[in-house]
Amino acid sequence: MERLQKVLAHAGVASRRKCEDMILEGRVRVNGETVTELGRKVDPLLDQIEVDGKPIMTERKRTFLFYKPLRVITSMSDPQGRPTVADYFREIDERVYPVGRLDYDTEGLLLMTNDGELANRLTHPKYEADKCYLATVKGHPSEEQLDRLRRGIRLEDGWTAPAQVRRVKDRRNTTVLEIVIHEGRNRQVRRMCEAIGHPVVHLIRTRIAFLTLGSMKPGTYRELKPRELERLKRLLYL
Ligand code: URA
Repeated sequence: MERLQKVLAHAGVASRRKCEDMILEGRVRVNGETVTELGRKVDPLLDQIEVDGKPIMTERKRTFLFYKPLRVITSMSDPQGRPTVADYFREIDERVYPVGRLDYDTEGLLLMTNDGELANRLTHPKYEADKCYLATVKGHPSEEQLDRLRRGIRLEDGWTAPAQVRRVKDRRNTTVLEIVIHEGRNRQVRRMCEAIGHPVVHLIRTRIAFLTLGSMKPGTYRELKPRELERLKRLLYL
């Protein structure tokens, strides 16, 4: 259930403020009844909502797991004409948008949704879900250096929260680290690794909360199953 003015604004009727005025002016009906109070909660999918006698268009809420490929920007459009995540969702009628961001040169799991409340909670520091990355870094960081990442490290925008860090594989010139964080600052994993002197050469996000890439291929997506969506919402107290 959502507030009537919010549902109207989301349906593209007008701004939230303007929609409030329309309600107060008696132009909005819910299931045939004129509503003039601003607090009214409605179900955008079940309630029949009309403005000036015309039904509003409400979108079905949809949430997808997307494997963002490298060299695709996490944005709905790009003035420079680079591929964007929106390019992969052209055949979906609903306007789904990315939850948070993966860098142009980071690949992996990205949630795409038109559910504003879900997106808010997923990116809100209070609820932020675990995110797991595999970072291939230059050289071979010592355990002491990894401990600095685990405890929290000072970046330009402040200390990072404690992270889980595990050495996955030592290669000749690089090391693969598994890093689990729940914050979502700009280029955080790259900046953390840079701060201990081992810059990232490849970065992939493999998990958000309990949702994993599994056997997905770059550039593919799948809709969340009802059970996954329920579990995600429960995790976010929705
Ligand atoms: N951390 C980064 O540095 N880049 C990303 O894309 C995501 C997390």
